[in-house]
Amino acid sequence: MSTDVRQKFSSPWVFILAAVGSAAGLGNVWRFPYLAYENGGASFFIAYLVCLAIVGFPFLLLENGMGQTTSKAAPGAMGEVSKKYNLRFIGWMGVLVSMFILSYYIVIASWVTNYAINSPAMPWQADSSQYFYQSFLGLTDSITQKGAFNLLTFVFVVFLYMALFFVMRQGTQGISGVARFITPIPFVLLMLLAINSLFLSGSAAGLKFFFLPDWSKLFTLKIWAAAAGQVFFTLSLGAGMMFAYGSLLNKKVNLKRAVLIIIAGDTLCSLIGGTAIFGVLGHMAVSQGVPVTEVVKGGIGLAFIAYPKALSLLPFIPSIFSLAFFLALLTLAFTSMVSLVEAAVAPIIQSKPSLTRTKVLLVYFAITLCFGLLFMRGNGLYMLDIVDHFTSGYMMMFVGMLEAIIIGWFYPISQLRTNLENNSQTKISQIFDWLIKLVIPPILALLLFSQIHTDLAHRYGDYPMEYLVFYGLGVMAFVFIMSIVLTRSLPNGKLAPPPASA
Ligand code: TRP
Repeated sequence: MSTDVRQKFSSPWVFILAAVGSAAGLGNVWRFPYLAYENGGASFFIAYLVCLAIVGFPFLLLENGMGQTTSKAAPGAMGEVSKKYNLRFIGWMGVLVSMFILSYYIVIASWVTNYAINSPAMPWQADSSQYFYQSFLGLTDSITQKGAFNLLTFVFVVFLYMALFFVMRQGTQGISGVARFITPIPFVLLMLLAINSLFLSGSAAGLKFFFLPDWSKLFTLKIWAAAAGQVFFTLSLGAGMMFAYGSLLNKKVNLKRAVLIIIAGDTLCSLIGGTAIFGVLGHMAVSQGVPVTEVVKGGIGLAFIAYPKALSLLPFIPSIFSLAFFLALLTLAFTSMVSLVEAAVAPIIQSKPSLTRTKVLLVYFAITLCFGLLFMRGNGLYMLDIVDHFTSGYMMMFVGMLEAIIIGWFYPISQLRTNLENNSQTKISQIFDWLIKLVIPPILALLLFSQIHTDLAHRYGDYPMEYLVFYGLGVMAFVFIMSIVLTRSLPNGKLAPPPASA
């Protein structure tokens, strides 16, 4: 067995870099700008900042803090909440959500790899939408037509798994190496792209669009639901993840400050990414004489269609900019995937210390790869959309709500706060307790209900019912059932006392 999973991060900065690496991901560069665009630009940003303060900050402190004070990943930490009831299943639910997210996240990362490699030739230059949907994905007309298997996507997915294996085999040292050397790369690349954007003629039109508030939208539930959902996704919350990294942090470290820096780093990434993207789109809109709204298509299309097209039209070495962009996306995705893997591997090894890391990694990769095959066919994009909707749309918030209620009322949260305060000699305001106990659960419940209401009123994505039931509700049912199976079959592992910080 290589390095022990319980070896801690060597310094708080490595922890901060690893957590920023997890948080900053595909969610920042395509999801955030797209949501901002749909929800009134700067007014979305205001809602997002408010949600960061009242949901993101306390929640990240809660998840990292539970990991830090118990030195355990999500199931073990949840197991400490009550002596009477076995609550480890809530932790396992988060871990299983991470498992599903990984299985499609790596497929998107494989597309990114493909685009990075194709950047010198830019085959999407002529018609980027046709290229993405038809030539590249071979997308079928409807989810019921399976279409051809995309071998190239599969090959790159396997390649990414090999890279992850190489890094993760080395445990904390591998994660730390990635945190130190890879996490900063996308920041530098996106910064260069953003500066370039600012100098393009017409960029102001795009930026105005990104930053200009549409105040009327601030008073709708939709904008707040989108903002809170984005906070959860971008901070990797409700998926067992932040417990696992917190458990590798020395108890004496001032977590409150670390969490503030992580949130600032993540938000900075969204802002630079958004500036890079909308500056270029503004340039494109002005040079073609069309409004910015007509250049942008939402969702995944933004990163794979509108933006690559815009870059390919730049007057000056467009393929370099394209390569820089996709390398930024690839490195962002890679550090996030490292965290998605650790979210599952840490608790499995902690519950069954006799297993080697290598074995756990191989089995975990085999399972997620098999499930991921669903996303590599001609109807893969539709399948991915469904699984994403039900995991990051429902399950992350649901698990988060359970965590807030259970830890808030039964641990109780004041004890976590006192532990954190005593360990690191800092003061944490009592407002933290109130936010976790009284504010966050109803907010998450409201968002979940509004989501359910929308989905009941209108079938999600107009997909046939059997697909939604099988791959949406089915995935959720699997998470519930497996979390109980894992709680029973992997009881609390007997842990050797963790070694001092390495
Ligand atoms: N935060 C990442 C992003 O913005 C995605 C991510 C990484 C994630 N790890 C996670 C999401 C764990 C949920 C849970 O792209």
